[in-house]
Amino acid sequence: MSNSKGGRSPLRERGSTLLIRAASGIHEPVCYTYVMKFSPTMLAFLFLTLASSLAAISASQPYECPPTRPDAQGPFYREDAPVRSKIGEGYLLIGEVKSAADCNPIAGARIEIWMTGPDGRYDDRWRATTFSRDDGRYYFQSHFPGPYGSRPPHIHMIVNAPGFEELVTQHYPEPGTGEGVFDLILIPTAADYSR
Ligand SMILES: [Fe+2]
Repeated sequence: MSNSKGGRSPLRERGSTLLIRAASGIHEPVCYTYVMKFSPTMLAFLFLTLASSLAAISASQPYECPPTRPDAQGPFYREDAPVRSKIGEGYLLIGEVKSAADCNPIAGARIEIWMTGPDGRYDDRWRATTFSRDDGRYYFQSHFPGPYGSRPPHIHMIVNAPGFEELVTQHYPEPGTGEGVFDLILIPTAADYSR
């Protein structure tokens, strides 16, 4: 049914106008212009644009296991920390090193750890290097991290394994707890992931 405003049904046109007005708060003369510009061609274009955007977002997140969130390294990292899995008592950290690509465990990953002592200071007593076992699991035993300024208690970690990008992250123990679980999910390097 045609009318004097371009062949649209008055009822359909008013309904669309009201919907857009309700959603946008734009007053009637302006939103009428928008209604008339949504031709079938433009709607098809908008749909294809939306579909391709969603496909791009999906392609940018190709991992079965979400990678562990990177975090600041901070100024107190030192190389060659002693190989050990225990520097104190009071807090047990366990977890699994896994591949983001397929969630499979990664054996032999090198995990460097450093944290504040009970006095809130960083020094060599509170550094360690440990490795994931054959099943990808690791553990680390320490005191509960001491306070450091206004930051929440935390344990710094750097994880390296052949074929994976280095992960620099931090674990935040829950105050009042004696243990925590923190999986370390690594991203394959581009060369390994494309095979
Ligand atoms: Fe720190």
